Amino acid sequence: MQDVFLNGDFLPAEQAKVSVFDRGFLLGDGVYEVIPVYAGKCFQLTGHLIRLQASLDGVRMKNPLSMKEWQTMIEQLVERNAGGDQSVYLQVTRGVAPRDHVFPEGVHPTAFAMSNSLQALPEKYKTEGIAAITLPDIRWQNFNIKAITLLPNSLLKQQAQDAGAQEALLLRDGYLTEGAASNAYAVIDGIIYTAPKDEKVLPGITREVVLELAARNGIPAIEQAVSEAQLKQAQEVWVSSSTKEVLPITTLDGEAVGDGVPGPVWKQIDILYQQYKQQGAA
Ligand code: PDD
Repeated sequence: MQDVFLNGDFLPAEQAKVSVFDRGFLLGDGVYEVIPVYAGKCFQLTGHLIRLQASLDGVRMKNPLSMKEWQTMIEQLVERNAGGDQSVYLQVTRGVAPRDHVFPEGVHPTAFAMSNSLQALPEKYKTEGIAAITLPDIRWQNFNIKAITLLPNSLLKQQAQDAGAQEALLLRDGYLTEGAASNAYAVIDGIIYTAPKDEKVLPGITREVVLELAARNGIPAIEQAVSEAQLKQAQEVWVSSSTKEVLPITTLDGEAVGDGVPGPVWKQIDILYQQYKQQGAA
C-alpha cells in the first residue's frame, strides 16, 4: 500500500482526503515539483526545493514547510515507499476557502507529496530516439512558475500522442520555447542551443545539469532560443526532464532530424549524465 504525505502526516493513499473547497481543485491554484530518486537518494533535491520556493513566491503563497522539513519528509516518504528508483511529486495549494478568485485571508496552504516508482523508459527511446511534432505554444506567459494548471500542456501532449509522437515542441513568435513537459535543445554545428531562463520556459533542473556538464567538458552551449527554421535544420534535437533525463528526438514533424539517429553530442551528454547520476550528485 502506498503511503503519501498530507499536511504533516504520512498515511495510506486511500485515506488521504482533500476538501472539495481546496483552491487547487476549484481554481488550479497551486504549484508543484517532480524530483527523481535513484537508489533511494534524491537527485538535485536542493535545486528542486529552491525552485519550489521561487514558484510559491511567484504566486504569492507561503511555504508551509522549511527547506529542512521538506528534505526530512521526502527522505521518509521515499523510505516508506521502499527506496529504489522513484519519482517524488510535491504539491502546495493555497488551501481551503469559499470559492473566490481573490486570495483568501488566514488560510493554511495544503501540502501534499507522493512517491511512485520511476517508470523505466523503453530502451529504443535512446537507441532510436523519439518523435516530436511542433505546435504553437498556447500556454500562459509565466511558465517559469511550475503551476499545477497544466491544461494547455495536457492538450499539447495529447495532440503529440494522437500524432504518434512522444513530445510536442512549442513555438512562440517563431522561436522554440520548450517541450510540453520538457526543456528543448537544438545542436547546430556542434553548439548546443537552449532557450534562456525567462518566463517563457521552466528553469529545468535537468537543463541546469546538462549545461553544467557541457561547460565542464568543453562542449559549447548557448542559452539562446532557436527559430523554427533553425530547428528544422538542426543536426540534433533533444528534450530533457527529471523523469525522462535527456532524450534524442530523431523525427520532427515526420521528417528525420539530422541523420535520423541519436547524434554524437547527445551521446556524449548522455554518458556524462549517467556518470553524474551514479556519483549520486545530490
Ligand atoms: N515536468 N518544462 C516543462 C514544461 C516541464 O513540465 C518540465 C518537467 C520541464 C523539465 O524540468 P525538470 O528538468 O526540472 O524536470 C521543463 C515534470 C517532470 C512534470 O510535469 O511531470
